[in-house]
Amino acid sequence: MNTNKTKVIISMSPEETMKLGEDFAKALKQGDVVAFYGELGSGKTTMIKGICSGLGIEGGVRSPSFVFLRIYKAENTVYHFDFYRLKKKEELLNTGYDEFFYNSGIVLLEWADRIEDLLPELRFDVVMKILNENEREIRISHTGQRVWSM
Ligand SMILES: Nc1ncnc2c1ncn2[C@@H]1O[C@H](COP(=O)(O)OP(=O)(O)OP(=O)(O)O)[C@@H](O)[C@H]1O
Ligand SMILES: [Mg+2]
Repeated sequence: MNTNKTKVIISMSPEETMKLGEDFAKALKQGDVVAFYGELGSGKTTMIKGICSGLGIEGGVRSPSFVFLRIYKAENTVYHFDFYRLKKKEELLNTGYDEFFYNSGIVLLEWADRIEDLLPELRFDVVMKILNENEREIRISHTGQRVWSM
Protein backbone atom coordinates (compact mmCIF):
# COMPACT_ATOMS: atom_id res chain seq x y z
CA MET A 1 0.00 0.00 0.00
CA ASN A 2 1.41 3.40 -0.81
CA THR A 3 0.15 6.78 0.16
CA ASN A 4 0.54 9.29 -2.60
CA LYS A 5 -0.52 12.37 -4.39
CA THR A 6 0.16 11.26 -7.93
CA LYS A 7 0.32 7.73 -9.26
CA VAL A 8 1.42 6.81 -12.77
CA ILE A 9 0.68 3.33 -14.03
CA ILE A 10 1.34 1.65 -17.35
CA SER A 11 -1.48 -0.73 -18.20
CA MET A 12 -0.79 -3.47 -20.74
CA SER A 13 -4.38 -4.67 -21.28
CA PRO A 14 -8.05 -3.69 -20.80
CA GLU A 15 -8.20 -6.24 -17.96
CA GLU A 16 -5.33 -4.49 -16.20
CA THR A 17 -7.08 -1.13 -16.58
CA MET A 18 -10.26 -2.60 -15.10
CA LYS A 19 -8.31 -4.03 -12.17
CA LEU A 20 -6.71 -0.62 -11.66
CA GLY A 21 -10.21 0.87 -11.53
CA GLU A 22 -11.27 -1.71 -8.95
CA ASP A 23 -8.27 -0.87 -6.80
CA PHE A 24 -8.76 2.87 -7.20
CA ALA A 25 -12.40 2.50 -6.11
CA LYS A 26 -11.07 1.77 -2.61
CA ALA A 27 -9.73 5.33 -2.42
CA LEU A 28 -13.13 6.84 -3.24
CA LYS A 29 -15.53 8.26 -0.71
CA GLN A 30 -19.04 9.66 -0.90
CA GLY A 31 -19.05 13.02 -2.66
CA ASP A 32 -15.87 12.39 -4.66
CA VAL A 33 -15.57 13.60 -8.24
CA VAL A 34 -13.23 11.93 -10.73
CA ALA A 35 -12.49 13.72 -14.01
CA PHE A 36 -11.21 11.54 -16.88
CA TYR A 37 -9.17 12.99 -19.74
CA GLY A 38 -7.86 11.20 -22.83
CA GLU A 39 -8.53 10.67 -26.49
CA LEU A 40 -11.09 8.26 -28.00
CA GLY A 41 -10.33 4.69 -26.99
CA SER A 42 -7.80 5.61 -24.34
CA GLY A 43 -9.70 3.52 -21.78
CA LYS A 44 -11.84 5.92 -19.75
CA THR A 45 -14.95 3.73 -19.86
CA THR A 46 -12.87 0.61 -19.24
CA MET A 47 -11.43 2.07 -16.05
CA ILE A 48 -14.88 3.31 -15.00
CA LYS A 49 -16.23 -0.25 -15.40
CA GLY A 50 -13.53 -1.37 -12.99
CA ILE A 51 -14.35 1.40 -10.53
CA CYS A 52 -18.04 0.49 -10.64
CA SER A 53 -17.22 -3.17 -10.11
CA GLY A 54 -15.11 -2.14 -7.11
CA LEU A 55 -18.11 -0.21 -5.78
CA GLY A 56 -20.35 -3.25 -6.09
CA ILE A 57 -22.14 -2.28 -9.30
CA GLU A 58 -22.73 -5.38 -11.42
CA GLY A 59 -22.78 -4.90 -15.20
CA GLY A 60 -24.65 -2.32 -17.26
CA VAL A 61 -21.76 0.14 -17.29
CA ARG A 62 -21.18 1.67 -20.71
CA SER A 63 -20.55 5.12 -22.11
CA PRO A 64 -23.67 7.25 -21.79
CA SER A 65 -23.45 8.01 -25.53
CA PHE A 66 -26.80 9.56 -26.26
CA VAL A 67 -27.42 10.98 -22.84
CA PHE A 68 -24.89 12.80 -20.75
CA LEU A 69 -25.57 10.82 -17.62
CA ARG A 70 -26.12 7.27 -16.42
CA ILE A 71 -26.89 6.57 -12.77
CA TYR A 72 -25.90 3.33 -11.03
CA LYS A 73 -27.05 2.46 -7.56
CA ALA A 74 -25.24 0.29 -5.05
CA GLU A 75 -24.08 1.22 -1.57
CA ASN A 76 -23.02 4.49 -3.19
CA THR A 77 -24.84 6.14 -6.05
CA VAL A 78 -22.57 6.64 -9.08
CA TYR A 79 -23.21 9.43 -11.57
CA HIS A 80 -21.43 8.62 -14.84
CA PHE A 81 -21.25 11.59 -17.20
CA ASP A 82 -19.83 11.64 -20.74
CA PHE A 83 -19.36 15.03 -22.35
CA TYR A 84 -18.09 13.80 -25.72
CA ARG A 85 -21.20 15.05 -27.49
CA LEU A 86 -21.39 18.31 -25.64
CA LYS A 87 -20.86 21.01 -28.25
CA LYS A 88 -20.31 23.82 -25.81
CA LYS A 89 -20.27 23.90 -22.05
CA GLU A 90 -23.12 26.40 -22.02
CA GLU A 91 -25.40 23.46 -22.94
CA LEU A 92 -24.82 22.13 -19.47
CA LEU A 93 -25.76 25.32 -17.64
CA ASN A 94 -29.30 25.29 -16.22
CA THR A 95 -29.53 21.49 -16.46
CA GLY A 96 -29.08 21.06 -12.72
CA TYR A 97 -25.79 19.21 -13.32
CA ASP A 98 -24.30 20.89 -10.25
CA GLU A 99 -26.76 19.07 -8.00
CA PHE A 100 -24.98 15.89 -9.06
CA PHE A 101 -21.48 17.36 -8.86
CA TYR A 102 -21.92 18.50 -5.28
CA ASN A 103 -23.80 15.75 -3.48
CA SER A 104 -23.18 12.52 -1.63
CA GLY A 105 -22.75 10.28 -4.68
CA ILE A 106 -19.57 9.44 -6.58
CA VAL A 107 -19.22 11.36 -9.83
CA LEU A 108 -17.23 9.99 -12.80
CA LEU A 109 -16.78 12.37 -15.74
CA GLU A 110 -15.58 11.32 -19.22
CA TRP A 111 -14.23 14.07 -21.48
CA ALA A 112 -13.90 16.35 -18.47
CA ASP A 113 -11.83 18.84 -20.50
CA ARG A 114 -15.02 19.79 -22.36
CA ILE A 115 -16.36 21.42 -19.21
CA GLU A 116 -13.05 22.44 -17.69
CA ASP A 117 -14.09 25.57 -15.85
CA LEU A 118 -17.30 23.98 -14.53
CA LEU A 119 -15.39 21.18 -12.80
CA PRO A 120 -15.41 21.13 -9.00
CA GLU A 121 -12.13 22.53 -7.75
CA LEU A 122 -11.50 19.53 -5.51
CA ARG A 123 -11.42 16.33 -7.53
CA PHE A 124 -9.35 13.44 -8.78
CA ASP A 125 -7.91 13.82 -12.28
CA VAL A 126 -7.24 10.68 -14.33
CA VAL A 127 -5.25 11.38 -17.49
CA MET A 128 -5.09 8.46 -19.94
CA LYS A 129 -2.65 8.27 -22.85
CA ILE A 130 -2.50 5.71 -25.65
CA LEU A 131 1.10 4.48 -25.90
CA ASN A 132 0.35 1.76 -28.45
CA GLU A 133 -2.41 -0.72 -29.28
CA ASN A 134 -2.52 -2.29 -25.83
CA GLU A 135 -0.51 0.05 -23.63
CA ARG A 136 -1.95 2.98 -21.75
CA GLU A 137 -0.31 5.46 -19.41
CA ILE A 138 -2.69 6.32 -16.59
CA ARG A 139 -1.90 9.22 -14.29
CA ILE A 140 -4.06 9.68 -11.20
CA SER A 141 -3.80 12.75 -9.01
CA HIS A 142 -5.92 14.83 -6.67
CA THR A 143 -6.24 18.58 -7.03
CA GLY A 144 -6.37 19.19 -3.27
CA GLN A 145 -4.48 18.10 -0.18
CA ARG A 146 -6.20 14.73 -0.12
CA VAL A 147 -3.99 11.88 1.01
CA TRP A 148 -5.13 8.74 -0.72
CA SER A 149 -3.92 5.26 -1.41
CA MET A 150 -4.85 2.28 -3.50
N1 LIG B 1 -4.42 -1.22 -21.63
C1 LIG B 1 -5.65 -0.94 -22.06
N2 LIG B 1 -6.53 -0.32 -21.23
C2 LIG B 1 -7.76 0.00 -21.65
N3 LIG B 1 -8.26 -0.24 -22.88
C3 LIG B 1 -7.43 -0.87 -23.75
C4 LIG B 1 -6.11 -1.23 -23.38
N4 LIG B 1 -5.53 -1.84 -24.45
C5 LIG B 1 -6.44 -1.84 -25.42
N5 LIG B 1 -7.59 -1.28 -25.03
C6 LIG B 1 -8.78 -1.10 -25.87
O1 LIG B 1 -9.02 0.29 -26.01
C7 LIG B 1 -10.41 0.56 -26.00
C8 LIG B 1 -10.76 1.46 -24.82
O2 LIG B 1 -12.11 1.77 -24.93
P1 LIG B 1 -12.89 2.68 -23.89
O3 LIG B 1 -14.30 2.69 -24.34
O4 LIG B 1 -12.59 2.26 -22.50
O5 LIG B 1 -12.20 4.10 -24.16
P2 LIG B 1 -12.76 5.55 -23.84
O6 LIG B 1 -11.58 6.34 -23.43
O7 LIG B 1 -13.90 5.47 -22.90
O8 LIG B 1 -13.26 6.02 -25.27
P3 LIG B 1 -14.38 7.13 -25.64
O9 LIG B 1 -13.68 8.44 -25.67
O10 LIG B 1 -14.85 6.69 -26.98
O11 LIG B 1 -15.46 7.08 -24.60
C9 LIG B 1 -11.11 -0.79 -25.93
O12 LIG B 1 -11.39 -1.23 -27.24
C10 LIG B 1 -10.05 -1.68 -25.28
O13 LIG B 1 -10.19 -3.04 -25.64
MG1 LIG C 1 -15.91 6.14 -23.03
